[in-house]
Amino acid sequence: MAQYGEEFIDRLHLVWGPGFLSPGGPEEVAEITRGLDLNNTSVLDIGCGTGGPAIVLARDMGAHVTCIDVEPQLLHRASVLASEAGVAEQIDYRLVSPGPLPFEDNGFDVVFSKDALIHIPDKKSLFADVMRVLKPGGSFAASDWLSGENAAEDDALQQYIALANLDFTMATASQTAEIMRQAGFKDVATNDRNAWYAELSRQELTQIEGQLRDDIIKVSSVEIYQQWLAVRRALAAATNSGGLRPTHLRGYKTLSR
Ligand SMILES: C[S@@+](CC[C@H](N)C(=O)[O-])C[C@H]1O[C@@H](n2cnc3c(N)ncnc32)[C@H](O)[C@@H]1O
Repeated sequence: MAQYGEEFIDRLHLVWGPGFLSPGGPEEVAEITRGLDLNNTSVLDIGCGTGGPAIVLARDMGAHVTCIDVEPQLLHRASVLASEAGVAEQIDYRLVSPGPLPFEDNGFDVVFSKDALIHIPDKKSLFADVMRVLKPGGSFAASDWLSGENAAEDDALQQYIALANLDFTMATASQTAEIMRQAGFKDVATNDRNAWYAELSRQELTQIEGQLRDDIIKVSSVEIYQQWLAVRRALAAATNSGGLRPTHLRGYKTLSR
């Protein structure tokens, strides 16, 4: 069953902007890819959702993006938004099944992902596969919802995970960095964004409780709004407690591989 149905997409777009199923908008995409020259590069976007990040990569950075996702309605929305943004020719969409990436070795200059790897349980296979599809000299630049070191004891995080009711498999920054190194990534770096999102999630909650309330109810229902308010309060609490740690990830494939 779809995790990101049409109504949920509409709700998330109201809070995070059209094309975004994750926070921060174009500025966050720029932050994730900071220092990389993406002009005329081939970029794989894993878990592209409704494609806001890919539009930024194409329109603002000149990338040619291959977007993959596991839910067709997301790719449909993404392609409509890309056409409206005038970047349809720079973006391809591919519906995939969970599991190995359906691409040949050494095909992409950059592998990008924004807040989607949390849905992929086998992190070792994932990062080995990302390494495989990157060209020698290529870069991996992503953000993901990671957990703090004491996730199991963090009541706020556990409550958020239970209420969110999505397929999450979270790792810590140190676990993720270790898996990336084992997969062969060089110069692995993690950039903790907890403080940034602790503040932003509070602001988002204020908007959901106030100015966005009626619009959210319009695309959903009073009942869904009430349930989601509880999820969003739990999200803000889990970020505030430090249990939920949005984090930028970076690593490189050496030229010699
Ligand atoms: C939180 S959304 C983020 C979407 C988009 N990257 C963004 O920032 O707006 C997570 C996305 O990952 C996708 N996803 C889940 N499992 C996946 C998998 N195994 N392979 C590719 N995408 C997956 C979901 O369908 C969803 O679109």
